[in-house]
Amino acid sequence: MILKIHRKDLSLQQIEDFNFWQHKEFHHTGATEETITQENKNDYKDDLFYFLTDDTGKTLAMVVLFTVEPVFFMKKDYQILTFTGLVATEKGKGYGKSLITEVKQDIISSGLSCFSFCHLEVFYEKCGFGIMLNALNRFQYSGENCAILDMPHIVYINGEDNLIESIINYPDEMVTLPIPWW
Ligand SMILES: CC(C)(COP(=O)(O)OP(=O)(O)OC[C@H]1O[C@@H](n2cnc3c(N)ncnc32)[C@H](O)[C@@H]1OP(=O)(O)O)[C@@H](O)C(=O)NCCC(=O)NCCS
Repeated sequence: MILKIHRKDLSLQQIEDFNFWQHKEFHHTGATEETITQENKNDYKDDLFYFLTDDTGKTLAMVVLFTVEPVFFMKKDYQILTFTGLVATEKGKGYGKSLITEVKQDIISSGLSCFSFCHLEVFYEKCGFGIMLNALNRFQYSGENCAILDMPHIVYINGEDNLIESIINYPDEMVTLPIPWW
């Protein structure tokens, strides 16, 4: 079963599960890591958490879908969808693909462009995403401090605004992000 739950509505068990797996899988990558608590779950309250669960309610895979804006490219501001924290709690059983395929359908239905940073390009390619290899240097953060991210590739879905196609077609132009890498 796939559950879709806004951050503000996460149960204690879901918060614990999510924090545990995010720390376990991503602590070493330098990706933005935040511990969710009952107190801060109303921050970013509309972030949408996806959980693939078995019949007993055990979590098999998880990921978060959220919007980022304004993403600035060639004198225009965009709102994009992105996702982070995809984890399959048991690898190689199709759980990751099954969950991200559902997310992909929701992204396509929204009409928005989507991009995220990844190091597992083969996996995302198999899940039907577009890939820009080693494209991290096309992106900059509008603030001062920049995290070092061990996720060199961009995984994307082009939306109705054609943002991704423009990014690919104008390789000398930078994309400016309002938050550091995620
Ligand atoms: C990445 C991850 C979510 C994949 O989930 P999974 O359930 O193990 O993968 P699936 O079983 O759904 O695999 C789907 C397809 O991708 C392939 N694949 C999965 N992991 C892969 C990898 N690391 N490298 C290459 N191909 C991979 C599978 O062989 C399968 O191919 P097929 O459809 O031809 O049979 C999981 O390995 C994981 O939790 N990794 C740790 C966290 C992480 O790195 N997340 C991604 C952040 S960018």
